[in-house]
Amino acid sequence: MIEQLKDRLQGLNAAQIVQYIVQKFGNKAVFSTSFGIEDQVLTHLIAEASGEIDVFTLETGRLFPETYYVWNRTLERYKLPIKAYYPQAALVEDMVTKKGPSSFYDSVENRKECCFIRKIEPLKRAIKGYEIWLTGIRAEQSANREDMDFIEWDEGNQIIKIHPLFHWTLDDVESHLKQFNVPYNPLHDKGFPSIGCQPCTRAVAPGEDFRAGRWWWEDKSKKECGLHVTNK
Ligand code: ADX
Ligand code: SF4
Repeated sequence: MIEQLKDRLQGLNAAQIVQYIVQKFGNKAVFSTSFGIEDQVLTHLIAEASGEIDVFTLETGRLFPETYYVWNRTLERYKLPIKAYYPQAALVEDMVTKKGPSSFYDSVENRKECCFIRKIEPLKRAIKGYEIWLTGIRAEQSANREDMDFIEWDEGNQIIKIHPLFHWTLDDVESHLKQFNVPYNPLHDKGFPSIGCQPCTRAVAPGEDFRAGRWWWEDKSKKECGLHVTNK
């Protein structure tokens, strides 16, 4: 099915891809938003499409105040239901009781444990039963992501992932936000091209990598939380 779908979507622009998925897959497709700028473009395109798909966010409990701000603006503007997934309380309680509230700084292992509890386990519940998972990933975001494709089979999660903005540049994203007056995270104008949890994200200097501010204390090679594992 993925090869047929790839042929069908190849050459379409992002709005056309979203329109096709919404119409053909409806409630079998789901979109994950972190309220980053790419996700705001996709929310806009989903709202403009005729039809609906489910939208969810992973509320890790460690988000920036600015992320809650743009979450509210998004609800006001688009009136789309956005389902919030929280980590399991018992898992967070256990980790924080044993290791304190900032264990992620101590080792990559601890950081991955926190990402697993706050993001990966809730993600698995959020995408269960769907056939298509839409994300705001762009190739330009990192070398790792350049090796991905705009449509791919996620073996671990047994789902087709589609990244409608895969070939967009940062300029394309910013122009779209401006043209349609889409609400976006105010941190974006303060040097945050990529925004995750507050304790694990900092601003980047001009010329630095898009993802240099994510888990900035770790080696470059480790800068993925496990939401997006490539097959390559
Ligand atoms: S991450 O793996 O480093 O955290 P990134 O912030 O680049 O991911 O976002 C890539 C895509 O992953 C987003 O476009 C979105 O689809 C999804 N995503 C990331 N964080 C979340 C979140 N907290 N809730 C829902 N989706 C998310
Ligand atoms: Fe925990 Fe940081 Fe991962 Fe958020 S990004 S889940 S705070 S380790």
